[in-house]
Amino acid sequence: NEIKVFCPATIANLSCGFDVLGLCLDNVGDEMIIRKTEEKGIKITKIEGATLPLETEKNVAGVALLAMLEATKPDFGFEIEIYKHIKAGSGIGSSAASSAGAVFGANELLRNPFTRKELVQFAMQGEKLASGNAHADNVAPALLGGFTLVRSSNPLDIIKIKSPDLLYATVIHPQIELKTSDARSVLKQNVSLKSAITQWGNVGGLIAGLYTEDYDLIGRSLHDEIVEPLRSVLIPGFDLIKKAAYESGALGSGISGSGPSIFALSKGKENAQNIAKAMCAVYDEIHLPYEIHVCKV
Ligand code: HSE
Repeated sequence: NEIKVFCPATIANLSCGFDVLGLCLDNVGDEMIIRKTEEKGIKITKIEGATLPLETEKNVAGVALLAMLEATKPDFGFEIEIYKHIKAGSGIGSSAASSAGAVFGANELLRNPFTRKELVQFAMQGEKLASGNAHADNVAPALLGGFTLVRSSNPLDIIKIKSPDLLYATVIHPQIELKTSDARSVLKQNVSLKSAITQWGNVGGLIAGLYTEDYDLIGRSLHDEIVEPLRSVLIPGFDLIKKAAYESGALGSGISGSGPSIFALSKGKENAQNIAKAMCAVYDEIHLPYEIHVCKV
């Protein structure tokens, strides 16, 4: 009648895959306790680690779960306690972790009427509340683990992508808040055919590289000339962090989600840790506080 859920952080976009690619960071995340209650409906009884609304309709976990209950109508309800460790506006999927965690936990308590892929559509409603846009590129990897591709949002078509054995992610989070809605408002609504060709070449290259464990191809494909140039100006020291990552062995590096976190992918744990050190040195130099994570993908 009660479940404790780990709600993982995620890196969305992965440079070339704006709104479609994402990966799960399975050692960084929130916790959530969900209990069945006799009374129908959803009550959020406690939130620790962040100042977020307790009202169900204003909370991303509440809204995601409401969407799920609309489809199942159980004769009992749920109460939720949320323990946030991922900061809001960090770029590593804080709202997605809560949205995905709530629907995953409640689905378990309901004895799994939905597959993990089916849960994505409900969790997306939390993303819509958080940013005004129901993107699935954070909630899909949070629910399915590893790398995921949102081939289509409508109708929803989520593909789980193979992770190469030695691939690691390093993520640095400068301690400033960047709202996804603000980071989306700087984007242009049209892209040139030339940029689109470059971008879909890279998306194809990245997917091929992941399946064939071709680390050089993964590196060559981690580029984004559409979104990154517009958003990177919002992130302190972005170019320096990226340069430090490449110089310490990164295959590629870019903005994590909508920022301000910056990620790098690398082959092997030692490279990932060296990249972490080099990234930290950049922010130490300018006295900017940060959090750093290294994770096997
Ligand atoms: N794809 C979304 C964006 C992810 O970049 O706006 C937000 O985490």
